[in-house]
Amino acid sequence: EQPSPTNKEPEKMPGGLPLIGHMLKFGKNPFDYMTLLRSKLGEIGEFRLFHQQMVLLTGPEGNEAFFRAPDDQLDQNEAYKVMTPIFGKGVVFDAPPHIKDQQLKMLMPVLRDKPMRTYSKVIVQEVEEAIKDWGDSGEVDILEFMKQLTIYTSSHCLLGNEFRYELNEEFAHLYHDLENGMHPLAFIFPYLPIPILRRRDKARVRLQELVTAIIEKRAQKTEKSDDAFQMLIDVRYDDGSPLSPHEITGLLIGTLFAGHHTTAGTAAWITLELARNPKYMDKVLQEFDTLYGHEGEVTFQSLREIPVFERVIKEVLRLHPPLIFLIRKVAKDLKFKDYIIKAGKYVCVSPRVSHRIPEIFPDPEKFDPERFTKERQEDAIPFSWVAFGGGRHKCSGNAFAMLQLKAIYAILLRRYKFELVGTPESYQDDYKQMVVQPGSPCMVRYTKRGNIKQTATASKDTVANTVTKLNCFKIDIDMDLCQGHANCMAEAPEIFQVDDKGKLSILQDTPNNTLLKKAQAAAEYCPTSAIKIIQD
Ligand code: HEM
Repeated sequence: EQPSPTNKEPEKMPGGLPLIGHMLKFGKNPFDYMTLLRSKLGEIGEFRLFHQQMVLLTGPEGNEAFFRAPDDQLDQNEAYKVMTPIFGKGVVFDAPPHIKDQQLKMLMPVLRDKPMRTYSKVIVQEVEEAIKDWGDSGEVDILEFMKQLTIYTSSHCLLGNEFRYELNEEFAHLYHDLENGMHPLAFIFPYLPIPILRRRDKARVRLQELVTAIIEKRAQKTEKSDDAFQMLIDVRYDDGSPLSPHEITGLLIGTLFAGHHTTAGTAAWITLELARNPKYMDKVLQEFDTLYGHEGEVTFQSLREIPVFERVIKEVLRLHPPLIFLIRKVAKDLKFKDYIIKAGKYVCVSPRVSHRIPEIFPDPEKFDPERFTKERQEDAIPFSWVAFGGGRHKCSGNAFAMLQLKAIYAILLRRYKFELVGTPESYQDDYKQMVVQPGSPCMVRYTKRGNIKQTATASKDTVANTVTKLNCFKIDIDMDLCQGHANCMAEAPEIFQVDDKGKLSILQDTPNNTLLKKAQAAAEYCPTSAIKIIQD
């Protein structure tokens, strides 16, 4: 039977070896291999890893098809099976779809607008603590420093005081054993009886014992903690039942894992890119100095409007997205333009390859944060910039990650300046890790800055400051993208309401112009860009 012109199978990469397919070339450098595939076959093409047929989609349209597909068509669980022994059986990727959905939704209040206000204080405190012995100058491995710092900030915000202060040392060992459990062998044989996987399983058991003890202790107290841990103790499934200690442990570990190396690698790359682009280092220093000076208070509110530094973060994540490819298993045939991707294959997208398409991001290798100014907006095409993924499974921790990065640098850069120790080209991404980070060692030199005067209290370059002469406007929500973060409700409660389960309702479709500023702020701060303001 001849395939119809609109039902073609994706073209295949040449050169696959018997049994292993294209594994050697892909494994050596997945980014180079995916770039080669795009240059040979275009936005859709197939390759083989052992017996698995993998279809790579790149570019905004391919990304959109991937991210918008429902879960029963593109299945995430298969791709993350290696996490089951770590998160636990029946938790997230190992849970039936209706339970997984509810568990992921339960994480939303933890990462929503309101708790973020407490987290910013904690992060500032942790950064000050981490650099207190740095002295006037010295050298530091910036990746190791950021890994250590972000495990403290995340565990403090999410797990709470008991783990951060009373159990800190034991927790560090347990976390280390769990991390090591993401061994390549575990992808194929998750329960192989080798020491490294045995240690992983022992650590998981011990962590659950500690979590259970804290739940019991907290139940005796009259005063409630306001960390993520407590929210997970209090949350309920749709049928009214609470999460078990096993599930709470799994969700807490899952959140830490999702956010740790991703944020640490990005934080390290920010220092490295700023150090090799002194022009932007000066701009960023000027912005932070204006906002905070030497001692100005770094608050949640003040961290929201740092446009120059936000563009730097976006550019760092364009060039160095820590997750360079995302995978799903095709459960029901997926159509993409004239092609059909058959059930049973795997389909993947690559933020890193998509971020280097010159027609979208001209001169793609150049570090140029100005790409994201309102005048240039090179990421205006939906799904062109996808460092946090997209659609219903877009990173739900993206606002927390941005907050952490901004708070870390607001403190670090008011105290120290940074320079590279090696040549600029010697700092490269390391593809051997599942989460790509700069290769080690990653040394930089720091020097203490003098006393800086704060010269202003707020930046002017924000959408919220846009002046308009119109009388009313319309709100358009892309419900596929809404994850229920509730930032919109915090900005414009007259227009947006998000219930405890994260469901958004619009109270006014065409609000009066007096609410425009608030609505624009809601759109600006929506972590999934689900809100559009239409003025005509
Ligand atoms: C999902 C990137 C930080 C929690 C994702 C996805 C990406 C991503 C690309 C989508 C995965 C997929 O579609 O298969 C990043 C980057 C980060 C970051 C680049 C830092 C710079 C964080 C933090 C947290 C977090 C700090 C939590 C504290 C999550 C969760 C998901 C997720 C829970 C799963 C969402 C779902 O499936 O509904 N992240 N992430 N991430 N991320 Fe992040």
